[in-house]
Amino acid sequence: MNQERPASMSAFWMPFTNNRDFKAHPRLLVSADGMYYKDVDGNQVLDGAAGLWCVPCGHNQPKIVAAVREMVGQLDFAPTFQMGHPAAFDLAEKLMDYSGHKFGHVFYTNSGSEAVDTALKMALAYHRARGEGQRTRLIGRERAYHGVGFGGLSVGGIGGNRKSFGPLLPGVDHLPHTHNLELNAYTRGEPEHGVNLADELERIVALHDASNIAAVIVEPVSGSTGVLVPPKGYLKRLRELCDKHGILLIFDEVITGFGRLTTPFAADYFGVEPDLMTTAKGLTNGVIPMGAVFSKAHIYDAFMNAPAGIELFHGYTYSGHPIACAAALATLEVFKEQDILGHAASMEQYWADAVHSLKGLPHVIDIRTIGLIAGIELSPIAGKPGARAFAAFKQAFADGVLIRVTGDIIALSPPLVLQKQHIDELFGKLSTVLKNLD
Ligand SMILES: Cc1ncc(COP(=O)(O)O)c(C=O)c1O
Repeated sequence: MNQERPASMSAFWMPFTNNRDFKAHPRLLVSADGMYYKDVDGNQVLDGAAGLWCVPCGHNQPKIVAAVREMVGQLDFAPTFQMGHPAAFDLAEKLMDYSGHKFGHVFYTNSGSEAVDTALKMALAYHRARGEGQRTRLIGRERAYHGVGFGGLSVGGIGGNRKSFGPLLPGVDHLPHTHNLELNAYTRGEPEHGVNLADELERIVALHDASNIAAVIVEPVSGSTGVLVPPKGYLKRLRELCDKHGILLIFDEVITGFGRLTTPFAADYFGVEPDLMTTAKGLTNGVIPMGAVFSKAHIYDAFMNAPAGIELFHGYTYSGHPIACAAALATLEVFKEQDILGHAASMEQYWADAVHSLKGLPHVIDIRTIGLIAGIELSPIAGKPGARAFAAFKQAFADGVLIRVTGDIIALSPPLVLQKQHIDELFGKLSTVLKNLD
């Protein structure tokens, strides 16, 4: 494959990218191994973002690469509509094991966005299957990112992502976000203040009546809007309120799933069990697109009580693609063999200490950490929101570190296999960047 600069960069309409700026000053990756990318000029770039939160086991993981190679030569494609192949069933069982059998079933998609739309549709169809088809209202949250499908956009809470796309889904409300710099700045783990924000669900219930509400969807930790960690007790309170009112609780674990918080899922970290859970990214170590919706047994069972026939009119051509299943099965084996969760847990303290050591550097107004995630919030340049963090992103890449920025927040989420020397390198370079930032 081409490892040179492409002859032209005009035709590719790049996603979530300032195309004109990028094409004038491109950042091109040509290979990856372990904790590092290599760019087109041969420079090593330390991966502080696990690509896009999706490479827990590190790049070019030999077992996963071998599994993909083997499957592509054995079964390149097989439908899963009225057909099947063994790996899709084996993976589903293994995912139940990995979840500690807190869920009973799993539905495959190809991305986080598809997983979100699938979960929302499941919630609506579940209530209908039980004779409560009037429960159609969906509740999201401000500053949430649930992908880019119309369902996910509608329950999502990022103005910039929504504003160009018309009225979106009707019948959606939003809980307030939980970010509070005044009360909760510089926290490790869950912030102290904000459990009461979960009670806003009561206000929405009072307005619409619980009998009209299908589901609440939240990211346990919001990633894409800059690492917003739930206040102590907040998720438990949401669970209690959903139970009280017969509302399904959906956790969007597209970034928090597969070890990001040192536990199998964030649900385990916070000790709160959702009815449905969306995942993607780390599921295949980012090697092949795949998403999965985990469902409690009672949701699936409600569909199985229907008259004989197709129970859920939903699915994707590539649901349970054999190569994705092979990658996911190998990923789960690597998690077990290399004790990825145990290793992540052993790094958590060193990680948090290193991130919080940036306190006091120019422009830093907050630092928050949980698991192997960090959010470093910068004060914005007046009249130019996002410009300061974007400048940091560009300089960090030039200095050999890949970070991710959203607004004026630097969000870090390295591969979980990182060692102390990678943490030292990451924060050594990042502190230099921050010290020299305008
Ligand atoms: C919480 C969450 N949900 C959904 C998505 C969408 O996933 P995808 O980009 O695979 O569609 C993302 C992506 O970052 C995410 O962070």
